Amino acid sequence: MIPRSKIDEIIGAASIEDVVGEYVSLKKRGANLQGLCPFHNEKTPSFNVSPAKGIYKCFGCGKAGNVVNFVMEHEHLEYIPALKFLAEKYRIDWPEQQLTDEQLAAEKQRSSERESLQIINNFAETYFANTLQHDEEGQTIGLSYFEERGFRPETIEKFKLGYSKDSWDHFTQTAISQGFNSELLKKSGLVKESEQGKLYDAYRGRVMFTIHNLSGKPIAFAGRFLKKDPKSPKYVNSPETVLYHKSNELYGMYYARNAISKLGYVYLVEGYTDVISLHQAGVENVVASSGTSLTENQIKLIKRFTENVVVLYDGDAAGIKASLRGIDMLLEGGLNVKTVQFPEGEDPDSYCQKLGPEAFATYLDEHKKDFMLFKTNLLLEDAGNDPIKRAQLVREIVESISKIPDAFKRMSFIRETSKLLAVDEQLLVTESNRLVRTKLSGEAKTSIPPIESSLPTYQQELRELVDVQHHDAQEKDLIRVLLWYGNQPVEGFHHVAHYILHHLAAEEIALEHPIALAIIEELNEQLSKEAEFNSNYLIHHSNPEISKFAADILAQPLEISPNWERLYDIIIDPPGSNYLQDANAALAALQLKNIDKMIRHNQDSFNSAETDEEIENLQRTHIHLKELQANLTHKWGTVIVK
Ligand code: CTP
Ligand code: MN
Repeated sequence: MIPRSKIDEIIGAASIEDVVGEYVSLKKRGANLQGLCPFHNEKTPSFNVSPAKGIYKCFGCGKAGNVVNFVMEHEHLEYIPALKFLAEKYRIDWPEQQLTDEQLAAEKQRSSERESLQIINNFAETYFANTLQHDEEGQTIGLSYFEERGFRPETIEKFKLGYSKDSWDHFTQTAISQGFNSELLKKSGLVKESEQGKLYDAYRGRVMFTIHNLSGKPIAFAGRFLKKDPKSPKYVNSPETVLYHKSNELYGMYYARNAISKLGYVYLVEGYTDVISLHQAGVENVVASSGTSLTENQIKLIKRFTENVVVLYDGDAAGIKASLRGIDMLLEGGLNVKTVQFPEGEDPDSYCQKLGPEAFATYLDEHKKDFMLFKTNLLLEDAGNDPIKRAQLVREIVESISKIPDAFKRMSFIRETSKLLAVDEQLLVTESNRLVRTKLSGEAKTSIPPIESSLPTYQQELRELVDVQHHDAQEKDLIRVLLWYGNQPVEGFHHVAHYILHHLAAEEIALEHPIALAIIEELNEQLSKEAEFNSNYLIHHSNPEISKFAADILAQPLEISPNWERLYDIIIDPPGSNYLQDANAALAALQLKNIDKMIRHNQDSFNSAETDEEIENLQRTHIHLKELQANLTHKWGTVIVK
């Protein structure tokens, strides 16, 4: 736990314009600074920094937050590491955890092993690269191999490609003569020990690929055998070490991270050479799973940078079928998945080399398909007219869909695939809900919410979801008034914030948006302690969700009116001209929304009502709600209408 005082100290020291200014060239525009957004591609600047408020906001992509959020977003760090990052930058002491002596010793041991292995890997990377460039065997065998594959010199240099000589222990001897410890060399996996106790090179007569961590340090190697020898595996890879956990890494991530952030999606390929060829063709947002099926940690790693994945398959049917499962995992992880298929016998590397950069880029753009629809079509082709196979296929598709955590996305896939499969939508909904529920009861911790089963049709489910999203607008308006005018005086109250909190409680106005709700709850507590309202408290809140939400809202002008006019024929002054009116409008809008919702729920119940008594009850409720609505419109209307 970092003490709040430390967090305040860091936030106080960090200036948003300095921190952002390191990554973005900012120009003065009135009270604000403006530049090209680092989070999406743009030609005209829509990224704004307000030094006074301590926030940033991009009006192009919508990203917003305070200085800590910026570091989190840009460096892909969690909250605490982002704070630490700023503490280091501003030379503020970081409170280290208290460790026991034992923990301390183990930690020292681990960190010294890490450091030593890192030095060995740095050395090996240079050794292999030098051998490729300057050694005669390296040049004639290794370098000419890479050249034959179409890799240009700058590409070879960029990816630190190398060569390991076809000799018993040339690397080992060089490393030992440099003073490297043989135990550590063995741990690194670069050196092995024979049964007679003799040390020898693990990679002999292979071209070398270096695997880098996120900051570009060499943490592992892969050597590709050059002869077609079935006795020898094509690739030999580093073992697991303190530096390298295969299941946590994706090849090429270091080179791809900026492009992924800028472009907003990542290409996922299988092999090292696919990554390299695509880079050479100017496609830099690409990483490789290195042949094995994806792991949960690899999916998490992708999610740190983007939610959008385009999977590039090898062109053969068996390969595609084999990768379908792995792709379901991406869906399960909540990612949006598209796919591009290549002609039979081609992989991304070979096809890219064949077409050349421009034609390849065009091919990717034109052949990008949504994965779920691609899979449906693929299985449909396979099943033909066989009814049993078709039934199986429906089950399989629904199973895939049910793995998508977001109910809204699930619904839209169900709609699309039901058309493709010529199956009733409702049938797919029911089946998908059943699967979601089975999964939920199986593992309580999963986050997949079932689509509400009491709602009779898909249309209603969709409407509910849209309602919830629409509801946000009212809640955001309310928080916006709070942030802008919270400290303004109101007769009979400390200030506007006090006024709003009072009315929320007195009229039992429900908030659904979890962050808005959290903010209100916190403010209630805050204001019970001190009378002063300060919006800075929210902008620099230790919960990054709250600070981002607050910064986003504060950066946007007040715009309460459009829905008002449309929904209730109430004309109000332009926002901001009268803050009390804005506060009332925001409160009333929320209240009316709540009543609207109750009315619709009530109406929905008519469909399932069976007895006359039930129907009468529902009618009475309906009339009562309508009255409430009219009263409210009237009440607020007299305050609001000019
Ligand atoms: N792989 C591996 N060990 C093997 C075979 C494959 O680790 N024996 C991994 C490598 O990461 C490889 C990926 O699986 O990059 C894909 O395999 P493949 O398509 O066979 O290799 P390519 O990378 O395409 O290599 P090349 O084009 O040189 O054949
Ligand atoms: Mn290949």
